[in-house]
Amino acid sequence: MPVSQFGQPKGPKGWLAAHLVARLTGEANRWMVDCLQVGPDDRVLDVGCGPGLAVAVAAGVSEGPVVGVDASDTMVRLARRRNRVAIRQGRVEIRRADAARLPYPDCHFTRAGSLNSLQFWTSPQDGLTELYRVLEPGGRVAVVLMARSDDPPGPGTPRWMEETMDRVRTAGFAGLEVVSQSFGGVVHHALLAIRPAQPSPEKESGAPLDPTADGVRKGAGS
Ligand SMILES: C[S@@+](CC[C@H](N)C(=O)[O-])C[C@H]1O[C@@H](n2cnc3c(N)ncnc32)[C@H](O)[C@@H]1O
Repeated sequence: MPVSQFGQPKGPKGWLAAHLVARLTGEANRWMVDCLQVGPDDRVLDVGCGPGLAVAVAAGVSEGPVVGVDASDTMVRLARRRNRVAIRQGRVEIRRADAARLPYPDCHFTRAGSLNSLQFWTSPQDGLTELYRVLEPGGRVAVVLMARSDDPPGPGTPRWMEETMDRVRTAGFAGLEVVSQSFGGVVHHALLAIRPAQPSPEKESGAPLDPTADGVRKGAGS
């Protein structure tokens, strides 16, 4: 299955990729929702929600609105089908949208997650800046990514993870920590951070953030 079918699933092959993702990522999606510490009053967003597994888990915990967005029509259809009851009840919404242009107002959500999607975004920095914008101050973000230690360089390698952590800080998030977990032998890193109550002076002035400002905790399997 070409990697592009996981990044932008389309047509019959995309449908197959979507079902494969749904079969393989259940545990990781549950873990992301745990990492976000979703509670009954949270307003939750999942960016690159794919077949809508995390949306379903979050909607089982939160009584507030739960939203999934994805750039692929195929994934949107699958996620809507999976969450059809909650959608009918008005508790869940699934929309086609790009991470870099989220169709929601500032401070709309209290929790925002993304699992194995950022590596496909045209501009990860723009997407992370959007996540910051739509989260209310104090809101929590979890960007979960599969780790790779092999060549060639690119998504998942330690260096790329470091760059992604810098992007999370540059977007304005604070208190960044990394926890790791293995699913089916594949290590996943969750980049966890908070939109601070007050924007940092660097964020307000547009100056680059000090990448050494936050502590990074490595969990098991890292
Ligand atoms: C490997 S799948 C992961 C799906 C889901 N998060 C999961 O783990 O079950 C990657 C998803 O990211 C979506 N995606 C890729 N680029 C995107 C973008 N720019 N904005 C929103 N979603 C995007 C794809 O359509 C795909 O559904």
